[in-house]
Amino acid sequence: MTDPLDILSEELKKIKSNKLFRSMRTIGSMQKPVVRMDGRDIILMCSNNYLSLANHPDLMKTATSAIEEFGVAAGASRLVSGNMPPHEQLEHDIAAFKNTESALVFNSGYHANVGIISAIAGKDTAIVSDELNHASIIDGIRLSKARVYVYKHRDVTMVEDILKSIDTGSNEHKPKKKLIVTDSVFSMDGDIAPLKELVMLAEKYNAIIMIDEAHATGVLGETGRGAAEMLGVSHRIHIQMGTLGKALGSFGAYAAGSKLLVEYFTNKARPFIFSTALPPAVCAVSSKAIELVQKHPELRRKLRDNINFLRNGLKSIGFTMSDDPTPIIPVIIGDADKTMRLSSMLFERGIFVSGIRPPSVPEGTSRLRMTVTAAHTQPMLEKVLEAMKQISKIIQ
Ligand SMILES: Cc1ncc(COP(=O)(O)O)c(C=O)c1O
Repeated sequence: MTDPLDILSEELKKIKSNKLFRSMRTIGSMQKPVVRMDGRDIILMCSNNYLSLANHPDLMKTATSAIEEFGVAAGASRLVSGNMPPHEQLEHDIAAFKNTESALVFNSGYHANVGIISAIAGKDTAIVSDELNHASIIDGIRLSKARVYVYKHRDVTMVEDILKSIDTGSNEHKPKKKLIVTDSVFSMDGDIAPLKELVMLAEKYNAIIMIDEAHATGVLGETGRGAAEMLGVSHRIHIQMGTLGKALGSFGAYAAGSKLLVEYFTNKARPFIFSTALPPAVCAVSSKAIELVQKHPELRRKLRDNINFLRNGLKSIGFTMSDDPTPIIPVIIGDADKTMRLSSMLFERGIFVSGIRPPSVPEGTSRLRMTVTAAHTQPMLEKVLEAMKQISKIIQ
């Protein structure tokens, strides 16, 4: 008899022969801008810990005292017996931070997107989604069984055409609900969604609008509330989803919006209902991180300076860069194998930038996805630029 796992082994072989096999590297120290890897000090240029809060002393102290008070785990889902004061406090803090009526905490951004979208949307729903939306949005859409209309990246004309065609379709096929969903900062490209235009279209065509602020929370906007704050449209967006594991240096995610939506998700979002609650100390850390983000605008200023320094430096070497004010700076290589070889060459030079390949990005657009944090120093970034200068000769 053949081994029933043989077929999986064949699939893996195919992934390897296509040079798309993934494996993990180990960071042997705290997530600082310089980390220990393979016994060496390496400049970390691919973490989403944008404000370098993941090892902030105040957050570590908060974690320790919350563990002493509440233990290390919640022991059940929130709706059973896992709901504890830090969960409720965090929701209160998120709603205050985002200036919304209410908020609901999810165990991760992945859970949040899958949960929110599959709760709202069903066969009676049309979802209008950017082609570069995060995988968790795509999976939420798949799970919802809604009709999906994918528009070209940031193409608002196409969004309007789609909405118009939905509204003029025959009554028999007309969806009951319409949902426009977009990353606010695109995770692999670092560009920003046209939120003003999307909000106007949502209002014109009576659609629900949801944005994913995973890479914008703590980073963009006057007070770090995100891209919606930066573009002045927060109050016009129904669902502001965001994560706590990136700039906020913690773990988990949220949906911020009206009380009605939070009650709806509490009753209908299956990843919320059927999963053990986050450890209470993680929630206490997130609350403290929200406080730090608001108290320390200089962290965001430093991040912005580093973003500008790196983007301008890469441009002066000859790389094509956008001027987006985000810490995600992709250097598109194209070929997957070449991308991984360049990533290894950077590593030999003491810099860790992971190569991103399909299916994380479209075929032929493999890239070095660089990220910068507030804690990188000028000499570190100069070393990165020097290494990029050396490898630029190979790229061309
Ligand atoms: C845009 C976007 N949304 C959602 C997620 C998922 O968030 P989390 O890592 O908290 O699951 C990510 C993270 O990788 C992301 O980049």
